Amino acid sequence: MALVEALTNIELFSELSSRELKKVASFMTPIKVKPGRDLTVQGKPGREFMIIAEGTATVRRDGRVIASLGPGDFFGELAVIAGVPRTATVTADTEMTVEALNRREFSSLLDGSPKLAKKILVGAVKRLHQLEEGLVR
Ligand code: CMP
Repeated sequence: MALVEALTNIELFSELSSRELKKVASFMTPIKVKPGRDLTVQGKPGREFMIIAEGTATVRRDGRVIASLGPGDFFGELAVIAGVPRTATVTADTEMTVEALNRREFSSLLDGSPKLAKKILVGAVKRLHQLEEGLVR
């Protein structure tokens, strides 16, 4: 399956077995996005975890740019994991294709792949650390 092959090139999924990759692929829904569209909005509830297949996006908090994301990067995990409001606004810079997973799909994915869950956890802690640094500055 082409999607399974494409997933092997994404660092987040690099340690998964082919069985796990097939499971990941079965959960994914590709969404085409136009430049300028907000994929998450700071302070609003969020129901989707997204992985960028194509294109780039900018992450802003309180109107300030805090990161740029591109192919293979993921976002939206914080609100979906913890049920908290979106911590930042993520806006498409270009036309994009994102693979979206809803809360139930994301939860099954984490249940089935401890290595993946750990990577997402480490990424989430780093992001929260950056956000916290911004608050104390
Ligand atoms: P969430 O809070 O659900 O929605 C906004 C997303 O922006 C957030 O999840 C993270 O995925 C992402 N994000 C927040 N802070 C950073 C950061 N410092 N660097 C990269 N991405 C971030």
